[in-house]
Amino acid sequence: MRSPRSSPLPGRATATAPANIALVKYWGARDLAHALPLNPSLSMTLSACHTRTTVDFSPAPGEDEVWLAPRELAGDETVVIGPTAMTSAVAAADAAAAGDDPARGVPHPEAEQHPESEQHNWRDPGPAFTARVLAHLDNLRRRAGLDPGAGRFRVVTVNSFPSSAGIASSASGFAALTVAGAAALGLPLHLERDAGELSSLARQSGSGSATRSLLGGFVLWPDPAGGDADDPRAVQLHPADHWRLADLVALVDTGAKEVSSLGGHRLAPTSPYFARRLEGLPERLDRVRRALADRDFASLGTAVEEEAIDLHLIAMSSRPPIFYWTAGTVDVLAAVRRLRADGVPACATIDAGPNVHVLCPPEAADSVAARLAEVPSVLSVLRDGAGDGPVLEEALRGEALTQSEESW
Ligand code: DP6
Repeated sequence: MRSPRSSPLPGRATATAPANIALVKYWGARDLAHALPLNPSLSMTLSACHTRTTVDFSPAPGEDEVWLAPRELAGDETVVIGPTAMTSAVAAADAAAAGDDPARGVPHPEAEQHPESEQHNWRDPGPAFTARVLAHLDNLRRRAGLDPGAGRFRVVTVNSFPSSAGIASSASGFAALTVAGAAALGLPLHLERDAGELSSLARQSGSGSATRSLLGGFVLWPDPAGGDADDPRAVQLHPADHWRLADLVALVDTGAKEVSSLGGHRLAPTSPYFARRLEGLPERLDRVRRALADRDFASLGTAVEEEAIDLHLIAMSSRPPIFYWTAGTVDVLAAVRRLRADGVPACATIDAGPNVHVLCPPEAADSVAARLAEVPSVLSVLRDGAGDGPVLEEALRGEALTQSEESW
C-alpha cells in the first residue's frame, strides 16, 4: 500500500544561468522529444548573456503563473553600439519591455490581482513559452516525489540580453529554471557535485543546449564516460579560466527566425550531406578539443569556422531547405576574413539564425568589437566571453520563508 505523503513544504529559489555558444554544434536528434543527439557537441559557456529566474512553490492549490520581467540593463560591459545606434535590438527591446509590442509585452491576464506585477512591469510571455516552462516544472515536481498538479508555481524570469536580439534564450532559460526549480522543490542537488544530474534534468526540457549551460567553461555533451546512452549528460573539459576567449556577437537581424532549432533537427537527416557530416565530425571534434587544450587559436578558428559552415550547408540543403543567413551574415563573415588578413586573430560561428558570434583571444576583443561595429549591416555588438556557469543565489524552504513570501 502507498503510504500517505507528508505535505510538501513551500520553497523559493533564484538562480542565474548563462547562455553558451557551440563550437561543435548539436544538429539532428535520434529522439527529439527527449533531446537525444545524433552527434556530440562542444560549447563555450558565456557570462554576460544570462537568464535570472525565481521559482516560488506553494503547496496550496491555485493557478500557476509565469512572468517575464523586462531585461536587466546590459550596461557598457555587454553592449557596444554599432553605427546604426539604437535603431535596432536595444531600442526594440526597450519598446517591448514598455509594452509597445503586442506580441511580446502585453500585461499578464492575472496582472490586476498582483500589484507587484505592475510595480515591476512584469509581462505575460505568451502561451507557448508558459506551457513549456510549466511542463518542465511538472517534470521536476514528479522528480521530487510530488503528485502531478500538487501545489502551484510562480516563475519570474529575466534575460540580461534583449529578448528581441535574435539570440537564443532557451539554453540559459531552461538551465536557470532547472536550478531554481529543483532548489524550490527541495531536490537535494548540488551545483558542482551533481552538475551531471542537473544537466540531465535540463535536457528533459527538450533544449539540448540547456544541458551544456549547467557547467562553466568548455563543455562536452554527451560525456563519453557517462554510461547511459539514453541519459546523455554534459561534462566540463576545461574551466573558463583555462582560456578566457571573447565572444563578440554581431547582431544583423533581430526578428524571430522562421525555422526553430527543433525544426532544423527534424530536417537535418533529409540533407544528402548529413551522413557525410556525421562521418567527419569525430575528427573535427578531436581537432577542436586539441586546439582548446593547447590554447591554439589558429587551429581552433579553422575548425570552428569549418563547423559553422557545415551546419549551415546541412540546413541549406535540407528538404525543404532552411536559410538562416541574411546579407548581413555574409558581410560579417567577410569582415572576419579581413580582420585575419590584417593579422587580428578572430573566427566566426553561427547558430540557427543570422547573427554571427566572433571569437577571439581576450587581448584582441577591443579591436574586433570596434571593427565589427563599423560594418554597416551590424546593428549592435554584444560583448561576452567564457564564463563560469550557473549560480544559485537564494534557496529558502519551509520556515525560512516569511508568511508574506509563502502566500503569494
Ligand atoms: C544550432 O535544440 O538545443 O544552437 O533549445 O533553441 O537552443 P535551443 O535549441 P537546441 O539546438 C541547438 C542548435 C544550435 C547548435 C548548438 O547549440 O549546439
